[in-house]
Amino acid sequence: MTNGNRIDMNTARVTDMLGVSGVAPATLPPDCPAASGDTFLPRREASMTKPLISIDRITKRYGALTVLDELSLDVMPGEKLALIGPSGSGKTTILRILMTLESIDGGHIEVDGEQLFHMPRGGQMVPANERHLQRMREKIGMVFQHFNLFPHKSVLDNVTLAPMLTKGESRESAEKRALELLDMVGMADKAKSRPAQLSGGQKQRVAIARALALAPRIMLFDEVTSALDPELVEEVLNVMQRLARQTDMTMLLVTHEMGFAHDFADRVLFFDRGRIVEEGKPEDIFSHPEHERTKAFLRKIIAGGRRI
Ligand SMILES: Nc1ncnc2c1ncn2[C@@H]1O[C@H](COP(=O)(O)OP(=O)(O)O)[C@@H](O)[C@H]1O
Ligand SMILES: [Mg+2]
Repeated sequence: MTNGNRIDMNTARVTDMLGVSGVAPATLPPDCPAASGDTFLPRREASMTKPLISIDRITKRYGALTVLDELSLDVMPGEKLALIGPSGSGKTTILRILMTLESIDGGHIEVDGEQLFHMPRGGQMVPANERHLQRMREKIGMVFQHFNLFPHKSVLDNVTLAPMLTKGESRESAEKRALELLDMVGMADKAKSRPAQLSGGQKQRVAIARALALAPRIMLFDEVTSALDPELVEEVLNVMQRLARQTDMTMLLVTHEMGFAHDFADRVLFFDRGRIVEEGKPEDIFSHPEHERTKAFLRKIIAGGRRI
């Protein structure tokens, strides 16, 4: 689990090495008034020992290209994972599969004790229908690199749409919760604005609130700061850091922000060519990577001297 006191010699070394200063511990951006009121965030017992996500030898192909190659991964409830690795290594694909935006060509995925792509019928497992997929999808929220907000809807409507449409929630209760979530990400005062009137960092904070609106048990973040101007990165990282520290949601984060990955994650997975080449605690992966490909990747990032 993450905690607020992890800045140690290892951290200092790694952040120096990576040329990043790390992320300020859980401070909120200046325009983020809500530092309290976390009661609406899901907190669940951390004592469960069964994986919340169990990925068993999944394969994904696009034509002749094998993007994921018999990949297996268990994620425990509440775990915070950082997925790192070169472009094209399959990181986005794995998140999109969990969101059921992509199918798989082999293997199995279990989420919260149920098969993702299959369902029981008449005593056997059959391919999932749309209703099953929809129900499974509600357990998972995803935030994308390019926000994907509905441009013609207000900030508030962006957040209330899914609960009203998929859960049949009343406008009143959906709006109440949406305003709490917007408050948490420091965007309540922009509830009536359109996405075009917001900065990239503000859009991304709205996208995070929207993904939280269905109270998912699992949150997926796919390079959510990569499209932002550098000065807007921190406000989004701060919101994610706060979510990581103050909720026990299970989180999978794809990032090139190595300083942030170090502070955020319980476990770091290094992906290359559709496989997990190396995984471990952040301090081990960043300070003592074992595999040549992990070392080469980290060297390249350091040589780039940037927060990609
Ligand atoms: N819809 C698609 N059709 C064909 N190839 C795809 C598609 N989506 C992703 N790919 C390919 O799959 C590989 C993995 O992509 P991706 O998961 O996006 O990698 P990453 O997120 O690690 O950069 C890449 O080679 C990419 O070009
Ligand atoms: Mg990607």
